[in-house]
Amino acid sequence: MAATPPNRLLLPLYWLIWLNAGRRSRKLLQFSEVEANGGKDLIRAAELTGDARLRQRFLAHARDEERHASMFRARGLTLLEHGVRQRPAFLDRFGSGERGLDELRVDEEEIEALLAFVHLSERAAAREFATYRTVLSHDPQTQALFQRILRDEESHMSYSLAELERIAPSTSRRALWKARLRRVWRSYLRLAMGLADVISTVLLLLQYFILIPPFAVAAKLSARRDKRGWQSRHEVRS
Ligand SMILES: [Fe+2]
Ligand SMILES: [Fe+2]
Repeated sequence: MAATPPNRLLLPLYWLIWLNAGRRSRKLLQFSEVEANGGKDLIRAAELTGDARLRQRFLAHARDEERHASMFRARGLTLLEHGVRQRPAFLDRFGSGERGLDELRVDEEEIEALLAFVHLSERAAAREFATYRTVLSHDPQTQALFQRILRDEESHMSYSLAELERIAPSTSRRALWKARLRRVWRSYLRLAMGLADVISTVLLLLQYFILIPPFAVAAKLSARRDKRGWQSRHEVRS
């Protein structure tokens, strides 16, 4: 299979995101958690399927995701040890890495829907990792890490499609389209929530800078009018 091409339009944004070593560390540790959760979901999917070949594939996939989790964690911690700044920033929101099956209830899904979702999710992850690899020339170790993990993601992308076509040859295309629509809807929800978050932050800031200052000025003026020191009750009333 041809290597997954990076998303060229997003290269400048991703270059900026991965430039800062602190953010690199935070993102790698965050990816580690997502990969570990994805591995657990795949083990659950393996338990639920009655198809022996698919069970083996899911278990092999789960092992890969667990390995990715340890690799991301090790590199993230190494970057932390080098004393990088840890404070989260706005750019942390971008570059989600592999989403795994975090948006899916494995127990409730039909096997076709699950395989279609895994395929699209792995394809998106492969594209993301190819983009990260391209912009990480300033950090060859992290770049090599993404290169190694990318190969696995491409193989996950292939096996899930092959299994979908084996298990549901006549309905695989429909399953893929349904999974695509679900992903678009969820992306829209994530975007809407992110936007609501930004709007509420802006409104709070405006409130802070526009509504509060007049009260602060009024309080200062009133404090200036008051005489210093102790006053009799009569003086206070007048
Ligand atoms: Fe992975
Ligand atoms: Fe994967």
